[in-house]
Amino acid sequence: MAFCPILLVALFSLIYGNYIIPIEATHHVYRTLQSSSSDSSNHQPYRTAYHFQPHKNWINDPNGPMRYGGFYHLFYQYNPEGAVWGNIVWAHSVSKDLVNWTPLDHAIHPSQPSDIKGCWSGSATILPGGKPAILYTGINPNNHQVQNIAIPKNISDPLLREWKKSPKNPLMEPTINNKINSSSFRDPTTSWLGKDGYWRVLIGSKINTKGMAIMYKSKNFVNWVEAKHPLHSAEGTGMWECPDFFPVLNKKNTLKIGVDTSMIGDDVKHVLKVSLDDTKHDHYLIGTYETTKDIFVPENGFVDNKFVLRYDYGKYYASKTFFDDGKNRRILLGWVNESSSVADDIKKGWSGIHTIPRTIWLHKSGKQLIQWPVKEIENLRINPVNWPTKVIKGGELIPITGVNSVQADVEISFEVKDFEKAEILDHWIDPQILCSQKGASKKGGVGPFGLLVFASQGLQEYTAVFFRIFKYQHKNLVLMCSDQSRSSLNKDNDMTTYGTFVDVDPLHENLSLRTLIDHSVVESFGGEGRACITARVYPTLAIHDKAKLYAFNNGTSAVKISRLSAWSMKKAKIY
Ligand SMILES: *[C@@H]1O[C@H](CO)[C@@H](O)[C@H](O)[C@H]1NC(C)=O
Ligand SMILES: *[C@@H]1O[C@H](CO)[C@@H](O)[C@H](O)[C@H]1NC(C)=O
Ligand SMILES: *[C@@H]1O[C@H](CO)[C@@H](O)[C@H](O)[C@H]1NC(C)=O
Ligand SMILES: *[C@@H]1O[C@H](CO)[C@@H](O)[C@H](O)[C@H]1NC(C)=O
Ligand SMILES: *[C@@H]1O[C@H](CO)[C@@H](O)[C@H](O)[C@H]1NC(C)=O
Repeated sequence: MAFCPILLVALFSLIYGNYIIPIEATHHVYRTLQSSSSDSSNHQPYRTAYHFQPHKNWINDPNGPMRYGGFYHLFYQYNPEGAVWGNIVWAHSVSKDLVNWTPLDHAIHPSQPSDIKGCWSGSATILPGGKPAILYTGINPNNHQVQNIAIPKNISDPLLREWKKSPKNPLMEPTINNKINSSSFRDPTTSWLGKDGYWRVLIGSKINTKGMAIMYKSKNFVNWVEAKHPLHSAEGTGMWECPDFFPVLNKKNTLKIGVDTSMIGDDVKHVLKVSLDDTKHDHYLIGTYETTKDIFVPENGFVDNKFVLRYDYGKYYASKTFFDDGKNRRILLGWVNESSSVADDIKKGWSGIHTIPRTIWLHKSGKQLIQWPVKEIENLRINPVNWPTKVIKGGELIPITGVNSVQADVEISFEVKDFEKAEILDHWIDPQILCSQKGASKKGGVGPFGLLVFASQGLQEYTAVFFRIFKYQHKNLVLMCSDQSRSSLNKDNDMTTYGTFVDVDPLHENLSLRTLIDHSVVESFGGEGRACITARVYPTLAIHDKAKLYAFNNGTSAVKISRLSAWSMKKAKIY
């Protein structure tokens, strides 16, 4: 790799001993912990086989995803020096299928004053003539966040291996006018072109505790002027990181079709996603983009100035979508951090993965989005196991044999006929709290039923993904949980339980669950993609061929397994 001035910083800092220096709200720099040890050929029970992760070291946000020259391009925040955050560059991988990836040289690394202290997140926009441009956040010598542009050196190279930065950088800086704190001005979106010929881009920000998506406009993509008001803002939500703003089709029979980011019109609704720095969750709003006023008016998912809808109710952050013009779909990528201790991350030599890319579209109700793993991931499926329908009684545990339990794709559906025994919920309660109070080990009425993954022989360890049905205001309310409370005997791990209610009616449809199991990842989709929960787990006993997989029911009522299809997954070629 080329000379990297950041190395000097790392060496210089060593002199200062074991300090952990907070330089910014979201990241801590563990300067002395940077290491280049670790070799993935070591004993590594937790390394994934088909989720995206680099050979070693720290990874966070996906950046600038796009399709160009017949390849999918993925850039990502990466520390070349170790398994903790720091020295951030844009690493670059390309793929033909969003499953197998080839790493290339780092695309963007600190080299000019406007990014000398870090090349942080940003997005790609395909300009007229099919030319890509990247807007990204740079950290300048004063530790201010500014926005820069980089364009390919050679657009005839489909791999876009080399990038050049504009001498005009930075293009956008926090100003006294906009009252923006220079530590709260980052993560430009993909830009969209208005009917008036102006490009628009959003920058995540806040003023005091009011989170906002500041808009800038430009005719030529180089001279940017701040708009009079943000596209949208909300009191009390804190810093908005990694905003994403895109249209989704809202027309019968075409819902699944993705559209270009600049598309406007009667057939679309718009989605605004923000990553809330305060809560570390990715929230989204569905609404209308009023182009004459350049504002976004949310219609759903925003109650009492609080966000309700999330892409994923487990571990998931800093996600970003792009329009795949090859297959006319919109693809969502997101980062999942570790639940292990920093010491364990350093020991294993890596930290962070990305979820399986998800196709994303508007549900026919118009009230929420649907997410589903890209079709291409199914090419990794081998050795299918299919069950005939079977009843699973309360307290029963049925082993799912014939698949590799640590590297599998499982689809299971339940048919519930008898709701008589459903537990009564007399007041509304946060579903995540409900899941931690009523985990898999608490016997219920209708449910818990679902999957036990990474289960050890004597059930000292297991992770449970399940449904539990309550009666709430005389209706069936479906809770989906991912219960990590027994996922590992190593209590240094974060074993928080996650949960959400799922908008399904079990009277009229079977309850489906799909879980992608990958060594330390449990990525689950409930209600055909209406609710996603991703968890990270590090069992000590249930590893390799010691791990078992079960369907379970710990309710009083029997339910019917209407479908079980499971596959072992081949390893993807990722580095
Ligand atoms: C640009 O890329 C093309 C395709 O890889 C290559 O043939 C050409 O030599 C490159 N041009 C330069 C100036 O590097
Ligand atoms: C800007 O934000 C940083 C970090 O959140 C904080 O330490 C600093 O005091 C803020 N500066 C001003 C002028 O508000
Ligand atoms: C990463 O994981 C930790 C512990 O599991 C959590 O507290 C933290 O907020 C996460 N960070 C992000 C950015 O998701
Ligand atoms: C089912 O519930 C019983 C009693 O509440 C508990 O002892 C058992 O561990 C539970 N089973 C599972 C798989 O959690
Ligand atoms: C639910 O599963 C049963 C099999 O148990 C099947 O006969 C039925 O068609 C399914 N219902 C729906 C709505 O798909």
